[in-house]
Amino acid sequence: MLAAAEMKIETNARIPTWFGIGGGADRLVRPRSVEDVRRCVEIDSRLRVLGDGANLLVDDDGVAELVVAMEQPSAETELGRVDVDHGSGLVRVGAGADFAKVINECVRRGLSGLEGLGGIPATIGGAVVMNAGGTFGQIADSVSKVFAVSREGRTITLDRAEIAFGYRRSGLNHLIITGVELRLKTVGESEKSALRDRLKEVMAYKKQSQPMAENSAGCCFKNPTLHATVESIGEAGKRVSAGMLIDRAGCKGLRIGGAEVSERHGNFLVTRPGATARDVIRLMEEVERRVMDAFGVRLEREVVVWRRTP
Ligand code: EPU
Repeated sequence: MLAAAEMKIETNARIPTWFGIGGGADRLVRPRSVEDVRRCVEIDSRLRVLGDGANLLVDDDGVAELVVAMEQPSAETELGRVDVDHGSGLVRVGAGADFAKVINECVRRGLSGLEGLGGIPATIGGAVVMNAGGTFGQIADSVSKVFAVSREGRTITLDRAEIAFGYRRSGLNHLIITGVELRLKTVGESEKSALRDRLKEVMAYKKQSQPMAENSAGCCFKNPTLHATVESIGEAGKRVSAGMLIDRAGCKGLRIGGAEVSERHGNFLVTRPGATARDVIRLMEEVERRVMDAFGVRLEREVVVWRRTP
């Protein structure tokens, strides 16, 4: 394991995001341990945490704060490890571990709870911060503890009851998550294949309904709750699909520069070669305007936008 002192600061580094566009980081580090993360906070307490870059758009000018890249290619590191205790159903995972790999590993070992979350690109830390999920569940339901470092450099352990999880939120954005404990249900040998089938089913549904092969950040907007009844959409108080609203507002195929609203799912903005972050931001604004005009519904962004702050 690399000691904190050996952590290299890269300058003018690319920030890899699923959009495949946008600016870079003036300074970027790749911590491997909790101690490394504490060191990052010492370097810049205003640091920004990068997970898998799956839900992130970086403005074309990039960012000045230290970018802490959590994605861990190696399970040998403290931030990349996945420890499964099959008997108790407890799984300890480093924040940088790949969410899809964790899901696969749990399903393979006969642990139930995450199989509805297949096809969500993320690191575990990123998935917890935004309470990743969809029609088939949310990660909050499987979280039992979160381990983190505060911006003052303190290590913190939070129990599930202390975390204010909500729809696509955790209230943990101020912390740097370093690990998570998941509590899953151990299933018998005979039920293992049902878990595998469920995961396959969820993946197949997404494959046919979402443009998974294209450059996008998954769903761009949160599914809004209707404040008033909207004819042919839903009753007041109901949470409805942002993709459906965008579709019904006639936005599919709408294009600004190299950014386009997917023809397959309205909530996916996809980028073509040559697209800029500005194109995506302008397209988001246009979609927001059209959905407001058509239905009086304000869309809230799920995609996080990083901008250079003065
Ligand atoms: N629909 C349309 N047009 C569209 C998209 C959807 O009419 O362009 C309709 C569908 O036909 C369906 C309904 O809207 O009747 C719901 O669509 P879908 O099942 O795709 O679910 P969603 O609410 O649009 C949510 C999550 C997705 C997740 C899916 C499946 C949010 C904001 N979105 O989408 O999450 O993959 O369920 O679990 O919660 C993400 O968060 O990045 C994401 C993609």
